[in-house]
Order: sequence, then C-alpha cells, then structure tokens
Amino acid sequence: MAATMSSGVALLGITSSSSTFCKRQASSSRHSVRMSVSLDEKRKTFTLQKSEEAFNAAKELMPGGVNSPVRAFNSVGGQPVFIKSVKGSHMWDIDGNEYIDYVGSWGPAIIGHADDKVLAALAETMKEGTSFGAPCLLENVLAEMVIAAVPSIEMVRFVNSGTEACMGVLRLARAFTDRPKIIKFEGCYHGHADPYLVKAGSGVATLGLPDSPGVPRAATIDTLTAAYNDISGVEELFKAHKGEIAGIILEPVVGNSGFITPKSEFLEFLRKITKENDALLIFDEVMTGFRLAYGGAQEYFGITPDLTTLGKIIGGGLPVGAYGGRRDIMEMVAPAGPMYQAGTLSGNPLAMTAGFHTLQRLKEPRSYEYLNEITRELIQGILEVGKKAGHAMCGGYIGGMFGFFFREGPVHNFADAKKSDTAKFGRFFRGMLEEGVYLAPSQFEAGFTSLAHTTDDIQRTVAAAEKVLKRI
Ligand SMILES: Cc1ncc(COP(=O)(O)O)c(C=O)c1O
Repeated sequence: MAATMSSGVALLGITSSSSTFCKRQASSSRHSVRMSVSLDEKRKTFTLQKSEEAFNAAKELMPGGVNSPVRAFNSVGGQPVFIKSVKGSHMWDIDGNEYIDYVGSWGPAIIGHADDKVLAALAETMKEGTSFGAPCLLENVLAEMVIAAVPSIEMVRFVNSGTEACMGVLRLARAFTDRPKIIKFEGCYHGHADPYLVKAGSGVATLGLPDSPGVPRAATIDTLTAAYNDISGVEELFKAHKGEIAGIILEPVVGNSGFITPKSEFLEFLRKITKENDALLIFDEVMTGFRLAYGGAQEYFGITPDLTTLGKIIGGGLPVGAYGGRRDIMEMVAPAGPMYQAGTLSGNPLAMTAGFHTLQRLKEPRSYEYLNEITRELIQGILEVGKKAGHAMCGGYIGGMFGFFFREGPVHNFADAKKSDTAKFGRFFRGMLEEGVYLAPSQFEAGFTSLAHTTDDIQRTVAAAEKVLKRI
C-alpha cells in the first residue's frame, strides 16, 4: 500500500465506497443486535453515579484515582468511567452504560476486545501455568511471526511494555554507535523513561530540560529535540552535534499529539541523514505496529529503519513490548553481547499466546482493507457533520488509526496541534460519552478502530457526532 497521503486533510479526498463487506459484518454481528436494543434505551437514563463513587474511593487509594494519567479525564473535564467488561467493539461500565469503544485499551484491541479464540487459547495456555521464567516455545512462535512481518526486524527481544522497549532500544543505539545523543520530536511519546521526558519546543527543548520533576538534568542532557516534519531542524542538529548522535527515534505516524502523518519526504530524509551520519533510525511502532498495515508504518511507507519498537497489539491485550532490528545490532544485546537488559516476566506465555492469536487473525485476508474502509467511513462522517454544523475541523486516518482536530488543517506538528480548540474537544468528548461513544479523553490522542467495529457502529457514531456537534 503506497503512502500517498501527506496530511489528514489530504485523506479527505478519498471517496468512500461503503463496502458490502462492512454491511455483511454488521448484519452478522451479535453485538450490533444487542446494541440496537440496549444502547438507545440506556441513553435515556444515563448516569455515572457508581463510577463517581468508585472514582472518589480510588482517589484516596491511587494518585489521581488512576494508574495511568490520561485515564483520569483531566483534560476533558468530568471524571472517568469505570469499566466492568468489554467485548468486540463495545464496553460496559459499572452503571450499566454501553459504549462503542474507539480507545481499544489504547491500541491492543485491534481484533476486538475479548476475542473468543484468544480467550480460549489463553485458557489452554493457563493450564500449563502463568509464568515460567525460562524459555518456552511460544516465544519462538511469536518471534518468528514478528520477524516475518516487520521489514526491519531480523531479531527481536520481548519485554513487558512499550516504555521498556523504548528504554532498551535507546541503550542499544548508544551501545552500538558508542555515541550519547538521541534526537526525538516534539509531541512524540516514547514511554516514560527519563531520557524521553523532555518537553520539546521553546527554550526548554533547546536546553534539553526535563519535563517532569524527578528527572535529573543529567538524564536528558543528551536528548535533542526538533519539530515533527521539520527537515531543517534535524539538519541543524546533525551539524551542531557532529559525530555525537546515536540515532533518531520517532513515531512514524504520530498518535500522541493527536493523529499527525509524516510529510511524504520526511521519512525518506530521516533515512538518508541517519545513513550519511552513521546514526541509527528507530521507528517507535508501539502504536503503529500491525495497526497501519501488517508490517506497520515501515511497510506502509516503504522505509526500513535500523531498529523498531513494538508493544500493544503484539500482546493482544496482555502486557508486552518488544524491540528488534538488524541482526548485527541486536547481537549486542545480552547474553549474545554486552548491552544489558533483562526482565522477570519477559516472554510471558500468556502474553505470547494472546499476541500470536491476535496476529493470526490480522493475517487473514482483507483485514487491513476492512480497517481502512470502516475508519474512512468514520472519519469522513465525523468531519462532514462537523463542517455542516459550522466547526473548523480537520482529520485523517490510516488503517485502524484516526484522529481529528478542532481547527482548520493541515496539522504537521505538535505546535499546529496545540492550536486546536481543546475546550470544544472536551465538550464533544463529554457529549459523545453520553451518546454511548467512548473516545480517547484528550484532543492529543489518536483513536483506534478494530475488526469488530461494524458499519452499524460507525453509523451510530456519526449520528451521535452530528447530534453533539450541533449543540456544542
Ligand atoms: C508510540 C509509543 N511509544 C511508547 C509507548 C509506551 O508504551 P507503554 O504504555 O506500554 O509503556 C506508547 C504508549 O502509548 C506509545 O504510544
């Protein structure tokens, strides 16, 4: 699949051929039937009382009442919904409200939540135990699948989260090149390890000052930042730090400042300048891996990095991460080589099982065509009703990943994204929640569809958006 789209706005030019495939899926889905009975009725009595009580209790027990900050709804107002169960494209909260879910546990649920085959396979694996702390065949199986799928990966190391993968890959890039500095882009997120917590932009970025208290200056002094899609900014960094840059890490399509695509020449430029300077190109595909295409962004754009990080989808909803790449680089990792990195639960049999069955499902014919079709229908629909209601909006999608901003496009970087009307997004988010649609609770997060989303889900979502956008 060629990458012809340079911005979210450009994506709007694509005409939707609402496919019979989607319709077939919709009519055959038991979830959509269940939904049509319950969701509209539930809306009449929408209450979050039990969630409110649970959140008040949680705030006494855990910082901010959550175990990961964005879940707290701070940027959209209101308070979080406590989820009781998930299935397919839907979630149910503890008050009995039902939602069409576009967060998908922040990405892993690409074949739908609680897929029957995954659950059955997990039950089988669980009979053998939950953790071995020793090699098992399931690790070989998933490693083979990942290596076969992702163009840059010749060898892989499994870890337990995307954060861990990005920590490992940075140490590896530094070890392999024997250089200290790394370039990251403003608005890209690579987990919460100290060296990545540098606020890009303005003087803070230039000075490499840390983003969070507790991160020592020494940990971020070698983190250089540039604006996403800014070729000259990267050129200047290579000039100013000749022979010191180990590599460039980026989200090849940004999801952590909202959905932002690379300009067509940007990835090619990064590949060229890293080669010219004996530095490594690292794609952080924790979000985009197996989501834009089976081989991730690198397959989609036809650009092969030296190293890649993965997470989310390859664990099928269980905690997982991975980094991999060229064999000569990966052979530096202990115990094959001297670069140390380890993990008590790494290669966990349950995570390997869920990952394997998730990838098996994704490998089936037309998976990515289907994701493209429904995601296109969704984003085109939302933007159309938004524009009809008089809102400045732009957005785009690739595969099962999408996003939109409350501002005119194009959006090429985080500075552009920040000009979005975030207060309006908050009103939209809360309105959609009441209508039974669960979006990521931040203007600066991408949305995700899954193979379990039906045309019925999409149409209901667009209808809900129309209603909400008329009144906000
Ligand atoms: C691109 C990217 N890298 C790294 C991470 C960190 O992954 P985790 O939350 O599993 O630690 C994320 C998380 O969303 C991510 O989107």
